[in-house]
Amino acid sequence: MAVYQATASAPVNIACIKYWGKRDTKLILPTNSSLSVTLDQDHLRSTTTSRADSSFEKDRLWLNGVEEEIKEGGRLATCIRELKRLRKEVEEKDSSLPKLSSYAVHISSRNNFPTAAGLASSASGFAALVASLAALYQLPASPSQLSLIARQGSGSACRSLFGGFVAWEMGSKSDGSDSLAVEIAPREHWPDIHALICVVSDDKKGTSSTSGMQRTVETSTLLQHRIKYVVPERMKAISAAIRARDFEAFARITMQDSNQFHAVALDTDPPIFYMNDVSRAIIALIVEYNRVSVAAGGKLKAAYTYDAGPNAVIYAPKENLKEIVELILNYFPQAEPFKDPFGLFGAGAQGKLVEG
Ligand code: ADP
Ligand code: DP6
Ligand code: CO
Repeated sequence: MAVYQATASAPVNIACIKYWGKRDTKLILPTNSSLSVTLDQDHLRSTTTSRADSSFEKDRLWLNGVEEEIKEGGRLATCIRELKRLRKEVEEKDSSLPKLSSYAVHISSRNNFPTAAGLASSASGFAALVASLAALYQLPASPSQLSLIARQGSGSACRSLFGGFVAWEMGSKSDGSDSLAVEIAPREHWPDIHALICVVSDDKKGTSSTSGMQRTVETSTLLQHRIKYVVPERMKAISAAIRARDFEAFARITMQDSNQFHAVALDTDPPIFYMNDVSRAIIALIVEYNRVSVAAGGKLKAAYTYDAGPNAVIYAPKENLKEIVELILNYFPQAEPFKDPFGLFGAGAQGKLVEG
C-alpha cells in the first residue's frame, strides 16, 4: 500500500518593521505591512511531517509530541481545509491522482526551540505546516500563494515561506487575496548581515501576540498614528536600505520600529510589557556601542530588535559579531559558554546566543 507522507522544515523570521494589529481577525488581515529577515541557521526551526491515509478517521496534530485539539473553524482547521481545497482542484484536473483530499491527515511537528516564548514559533510552525501539506499534496503553488494560507494560521508565518528579506504586504481587499508575502531580496543579496539571538528568557510569554495585539487595536491611539503616518514611510525606506545594502539606514529604522512597537504595547490598556530589565540593559549596551563608533567618525555597528518577548535579536555585519559577543560577555560576566562558537550568553541565568 502506498504511503503518502511529507516532511518540511521552516525557520523563524524576525521582523524589522513589526506586524501588530489586525483589521480582520478571522482572515488575519493586518493593520499595517511588515518586513522581516528569515533566519537561515538551524537553531530556530519547526519541522513538520504530514501523512494522509484512507484509514484515518479525523485530522489530528501533535506539537512536540503532545496532541493539540484541531478546533472547528480554528486556525489549524482553516489551513488544513484550504490546502485540501487546492489539492481537490489538482485532482479534478488529473483524475489519475489519488484522492488525498478526501483522506484525513495526521500531522506531527517539533520546534527545536521554546514554543510561545516570543521567538516566533507561530511563524516557523505554521510555515512548516503549510509547506509540509503542500508537499504532501504536490501543489503547484508559489511561496506567495502558500503565504496566503500560512497567514491564516499566524500572520507572521506568511513571511517564513521565503528566505532572506521578506515583506508582508497588508493588501486592501476584504477577502485577503492581496495580503501576502513577497521577497524583497534573497539572503545572498546581503550575506554580510547576521543575527545574534540573545535568549533572555525562554518562559512562555504572559500575553500571547494574538490577544495582545487585539487589545492594542481596541485601546491604543498611538497605534492609529503608527499605522497611518509611520509604517508606510518606513516600509519604503527599509526596502531601499536593503536593496542598497545600507546597514546604517537599516539599523536606524529597525531600532526605531522596535521602540515604537514596544511603545504601542505600553500604550495599550491595560499596558503590555514584553521587555524586562535585561532587555533594556542590552539596548543600552548597543546604543553605547554605536555612540562610541559614531563619535569616532564611524558608523552604526549593530541594531537591536525585540518581538513580543524579552529576547533580543541583534543584527550586525559579520565583522562586528565577535566584538558584540565580547561586549555582552563583559557586561554579563556570569555567562556560561556553550558549544556553539557564538554560544555565549548569561544575563541572569539560562540562555544562549546563536548565530544566524
Ligand atoms: P511565538 O512568540 O512563539 O510566536 P505566539 O503566541 O505567537 O508565540 O504563538 C504560539 C502558538 O503557535 C503555540 O501556542 C501554537 O499554537 C502555535 N505553534 C507554535 N509552534 C507550532 C508548530 N510547530 N506547529 C503548529 N503550531 C505551532
Ligand atoms: C511582535 O504572528 O504571532 O512578532 O497573527 O495573532 O498569530 P498572530 O500573531 P503573530 O504576531 C507576531 C508579532 C511580532 C511582530 C512580527 O513578527 O511582525
Ligand atoms: Co507568534
